[in-house]
Amino acid sequence: MSLIRNESALDYEYLPEKLPHRETEIETIIQTIKPLSEGRRAANLFIHGPPGVGKTATVKFVFKKVEEETNLRTCFINCWRSKTTHSILLEIGKSVGLPMPRTGVSTDDVMRRIKFKLRNLVIALDESDKLVNQDLLYNIIEEYGKRVSIILITNHKESLLKLEPRIRSRLALEELEFKPYTYEQIRDILEERRKIALVPGVIDEDAFKLIVKKTYEYKDIRAGLFLMYKAASIAEERIELKHVKEAAEKLVDFNAFRMKELSKDERIILDIVTNKPGITSGELFAMYKEKGGEMKQRAVRNYVNKLISSGFIRFENISGKGKTRKLYRV
Ligand SMILES: Nc1ncnc2c1ncn2[C@@H]1O[C@H](COP(=O)(O)OP(=O)(O)OP(=O)(O)O)[C@@H](O)[C@H]1O
Ligand SMILES: [Mg+2]
Repeated sequence: MSLIRNESALDYEYLPEKLPHRETEIETIIQTIKPLSEGRRAANLFIHGPPGVGKTATVKFVFKKVEEETNLRTCFINCWRSKTTHSILLEIGKSVGLPMPRTGVSTDDVMRRIKFKLRNLVIALDESDKLVNQDLLYNIIEEYGKRVSIILITNHKESLLKLEPRIRSRLALEELEFKPYTYEQIRDILEERRKIALVPGVIDEDAFKLIVKKTYEYKDIRAGLFLMYKAASIAEERIELKHVKEAAEKLVDFNAFRMKELSKDERIILDIVTNKPGITSGELFAMYKEKGGEMKQRAVRNYVNKLISSGFIRFENISGKGKTRKLYRV
């Protein structure tokens, strides 16, 4: 019997309906962008704080609310995935409902198409320190600043200083710091999540406490989600202390900085390789499918290559077997 009743609720990208202990930050962001919906200029925001303290989740939460309740449109961009001016403009275009062909349009073209739509729009640039070209920010604010508000989100507070002075002064960013959660706050957050994700009553109290304690050590809520997921997969009938202890050993290779940069499919692949050291590419593909993966074999192969080149997986060639490789978690 599975002890997990909602697996996606343990996904790092899952957006819960409640975000305990971020009420003040939610309110600050809403108040900051509110003037836009009343036809007035809104400030721009610089959000910073350590990994796993809810920066991304909070902004997405606000965006969802704002989309539902106001006349504002929102566009959430992860600069780790879309770094260039071109790809960011494409994202903005999509979010304001313009059909955006991936190829065959120049950056100027894209800009021309979206510029009539650049109003009542809040743009979040997550992992903003990865942004390649800062001129985009300048141009948007210079020309459309009355109608658009920008939110930069980053782990690196000092990246603000790396913005060119003319851009920094144009943006006139207001700062919002996300502080690490206290022990009690982490407990509340994980408590909420366990109610959604796990079958009721399936985890021992001391086992849950250890998850909270470990998460507090890591300061990153993802560690708690990871432990809940792992412990639930190890345990058969109930999650006991020993299962969390075993799961906690795997925390050694849990690296929040890197994990968060992976997509869901990449994480499925990585999980399979972690649990089956030496698996061949063919076996991997079969298991990926079993786990509900939807990509074609070629795409999975590309992902594996990407995971190899970014140092998550290593491989050994099987001698005499042409292209067959055995895969291992690094
Ligand atoms: N207050 C909260 N309530 C519920 N879940 C939370 C809360 N804060 C964080 N989480 C969850 O913890 C995980 C990490 O949060 P999030 O991705 O927002 O962190 P972050 O601050 O953006 O980290 P990073 O700087 O590494 O990108 C997510 O799965 C998120 O849903
Ligand atoms: Mg984030």
